[in-house]
Amino acid sequence: MNRITTLDEFIIRRQKDFPYASGELTGLLRDIGVAAKIVNREVNKAGLVSIIGVADSQNVSGDEVQKLDLYANEKLIECLQNSGECCGIASEENEDFTPIPPVSGKASKYVVVFDPLDGSSNIDVNVSVGTIFGIYRRKSPEDGTCNLEDFLQKGTELVAAGYVLYGTSTILVYTTGRGVNGFTLDPSIGEFCLSHRDIRIPARGSQYAVNQGYYLKFDVEMRRYIDHCSEMNFSLRYIGSMVSDIHRILLKGGIFLYPQTRKFPQGKLRLVYECNPLSFVVEQAGGKALSGNLQRVLDMQPEQLHQRVTISVGSPEMVDEMKEFVERYSVVSSD
Ligand code: AHG
Ligand code: MN
Ligand code: MN
Repeated sequence: MNRITTLDEFIIRRQKDFPYASGELTGLLRDIGVAAKIVNREVNKAGLVSIIGVADSQNVSGDEVQKLDLYANEKLIECLQNSGECCGIASEENEDFTPIPPVSGKASKYVVVFDPLDGSSNIDVNVSVGTIFGIYRRKSPEDGTCNLEDFLQKGTELVAAGYVLYGTSTILVYTTGRGVNGFTLDPSIGEFCLSHRDIRIPARGSQYAVNQGYYLKFDVEMRRYIDHCSEMNFSLRYIGSMVSDIHRILLKGGIFLYPQTRKFPQGKLRLVYECNPLSFVVEQAGGKALSGNLQRVLDMQPEQLHQRVTISVGSPEMVDEMKEFVERYSVVSSD
């Protein structure tokens, strides 16, 4: 029998790769792993208890909030707050960031950003949802409170990022900038076990993910690229939770598109909570991620915590091809 490697073992082993590491990052990743197990338990019983359903509120981006979003948000904050391994958090569900006071007088040098439950409109129909997270080193002095600048860092500054997908099985995928690894939760022992070592995204795939229902609202150049995908007989696969679509694309290859529409002229997805962490993971696996103006997503300077961005992300050759289409047809349409 192959010896299993648990998430905890793996991150402790990896800590040795960073000679000056203080163990804080290791602690943070462990906290996220613990929160993921708690959220997983609730997501799994969502069909059984009355926790599912729409709570009587909207999140700061104006979307409908479901109860499990709030639950996941609370649990993540609790786990991160109690250990004091980070000095602040910013969540898609909260309007502002939350500073975390030092625990036992120990100041932390990291901040964490997250989307506690991505794809939450899928919960009550048993479709996969996930948690997305990113970790930055703070810019503010360690002896004070964190500030907005700590959270508005470019994706290139990410120290670690990843996601937990509550799907047919629960998997935690993360990177610290040295490749991407995936850990599947074995519910019988309650441990995340290394199941996907050094994930590499295929250079091309034969699937594309886009909300085709908005086709007529997209710019002509994006429509031409989508037509091309269809002419190539690519399969359209769109779950409606970005994290699930990205996970599939990471393993099978393909491209995920969320272009601008009239309703969302800047795109719908959030740069800080969704696009940057997932773009970092995809790039680390050998993929690419570009914004609507064909800029690398990770190079964008966030101006606001809840800023939205258009995105095309996935297999490198497919993202390059999308770029060629957009360049070619935007010239034609502006003539
Ligand atoms: P969230 O549940 O965190 O608000 O995110 C939902 C997002 C994303 O996961 C998904 O890809 C996208 O919304 C789907 O949007 P459309 O329904 O407009 O396609
Ligand atoms: Mn989301
Ligand atoms: Mn969410």
